[in-house]
Amino acid sequence: MDNRPIGVFDSGVGGLTVVKELMRELPNENIIYFGDTARVPYGSKSIKTIERFSLEILNFLLKQNVKAVVIACNSASAAALKLLQDISPVPVYGVVDAGVYAALEVTRNNKIGIVGTKATIRTNAHRNLFMEHKTGLKLFTQACPLFVPLIEEGMLQSQITENVIQEYLKELKNEKIDTLILGCTHYPLLKERIESFLGPTIKTIDPAIMLAKQIKENPLLNNAKNKTVSYKFFVSDVPEDFLSISARFLEMERINVEKIVLDEIQIEKVMETLVPVKTIQNAN
Ligand code: DGL
Repeated sequence: MDNRPIGVFDSGVGGLTVVKELMRELPNENIIYFGDTARVPYGSKSIKTIERFSLEILNFLLKQNVKAVVIACNSASAAALKLLQDISPVPVYGVVDAGVYAALEVTRNNKIGIVGTKATIRTNAHRNLFMEHKTGLKLFTQACPLFVPLIEEGMLQSQITENVIQEYLKELKNEKIDTLILGCTHYPLLKERIESFLGPTIKTIDPAIMLAKQIKENPLLNNAKNKTVSYKFFVSDVPEDFLSISARFLEMERINVEKIVLDEIQIEKVMETLVPVKTIQNAN
């Protein structure tokens, strides 16, 4: 039984949709969440910048003595998963891989759509991983940058959102995909709207569900019932509407958050910077 927490991070509040799945699927696990609310969105940033932010967060989570790290943010998973896996002393999981594995299980006609932020789509992370696993797939990608602000504004039921869904997804529908990866933490909140536009023949994938199942295989998990399970939430800023947005994403009335300042990491010096953390972890 390993009581150390699982560290989860995201560019902001969106990753709470992933935390919700983890809480459901892994009820005995302690969780530490970090949302980089001061620097959100990641979806419009360069890969190098997202890598640097992700390293700083990894550094923070390792100092909290986590036993595994979950990159809940699709943009960060797409840009930085391999980098973090290479240097982390604990297992690192990402939502991109989970989405790809889930889609491979679901597709029947091998035509798969992927929607996400501009950064996620630009990295080709999904495409590259699909290619490693199967040939003959037809992949269609679409960046949907307007979805995140519409969701954060709570405009799930508005006509504007309906029009944006149509605009972004009409091509994918015409291509007759049978599977669509919701490759952004926010998009599960639009799942019903998207499904009603696409129709019943297209299955949508929320990668968080597969991710929670993958983590369940981790031998470090708590099997015994943990009565004093703890959830801690850290952010880099507490924006005005943080509590109402986070409640919507996590489906919990209220969460207590602590604001922290991350240590800066020079990406060029990452090995020197993180190796001491590794040593500290091993010494513990
Ligand atoms: N969490 C991000 C993602 O899943 C969406 C918000 C952002 O652009 O930072 O890609």
